[in-house]
Amino acid sequence: MSYVLAPGMQLVVASHNAGKVWEIKQLIAPFGLDAISAGELDLPEPEETETTFRGNAALKAVAAAKASGRPALADDSGLEVACLGGAPGIYSARWAGPQKDFAIAMRKVAEEVTQRHGWAAPGPRANFTCALCLAWPDGETELFEGRVDGVLVWPARGGQGFGYDPMFQPDGEDQTFGEMEPARKHSMSHRARAFELFRAEKLAGLAVAGESSASATTGAGAYEGLAAAAANLSTADELATFIANLRGDLKDNPDSWKSADLDAYLKAIGSFIEDSPNLEVEPRWRLIAKALLAGSRRA
Ligand code: IMP
Repeated sequence: MSYVLAPGMQLVVASHNAGKVWEIKQLIAPFGLDAISAGELDLPEPEETETTFRGNAALKAVAAAKASGRPALADDSGLEVACLGGAPGIYSARWAGPQKDFAIAMRKVAEEVTQRHGWAAPGPRANFTCALCLAWPDGETELFEGRVDGVLVWPARGGQGFGYDPMFQPDGEDQTFGEMEPARKHSMSHRARAFELFRAEKLAGLAVAGESSASATTGAGAYEGLAAAAANLSTADELATFIANLRGDLKDNPDSWKSADLDAYLKAIGSFIEDSPNLEVEPRWRLIAKALLAGSRRA
């Protein structure tokens, strides 16, 4: 049985990764589909026990669809480095450790390559792969896979995106994903390609909403983007980009900020530091971003 998606439906995005949820929301919004994350629904995060991107995507989507009673979209993705036998692959997130610190993960990839093979220009071959699974509450699944090939660069460059973006340069480009404007990355990324297959198969008949995803730079959309960045960034470059975007948000959406003046802003940052548990386990750049964000917008 093949199910049909319709405008106004709410898809559960079966991920607790804020950066990824943000990207998927941006991708489906133009088709009139709403998205809510598994995190917002308090759904448990199943253990990723499969050995392939496809297997793990299906496992997560089916669990979310069954638990929520709604269609669910899950992706499993990662960086595969050819000379490391495809590592980190399905373990891409785990290489960043419990603190999800991708500065550490990127360094680990660079060190593994250098130790085993040395580091010769133009850099080792790598790809990002994304398996996207749409699951329905009865367990029915459909899978779509996208891939983008390129080389690794070291030192990493750029503060956009998330994860391994600053060390991955797609073929035919002179910027890393971390240096590109998000829209450019989305035009060629593995996730966008998997989504394109999903779109052609499942959304082709749906009208494209007139206002598309313009909310990305205004109102609530901009805040979600900032929150996603604050939850994921792990380098000083990414923090610098985050601060530039935060300043842009203050300029574009001043009425949404809760702090009327500098004193109120500093007070809000102070309260965030005092009230947050487990601050010492946060990577330091992310902690600064979260504190700056906490003082910015009204709840
Ligand atoms: P997953 O949540 O199990 O799919 O893990 C995917 C991991 O792969 C992420 O945490 C990132 O480390 C990495 N990854 C996937 N897609 C991207 C991307 O677009 N840019 C950078 N890193 C990515």
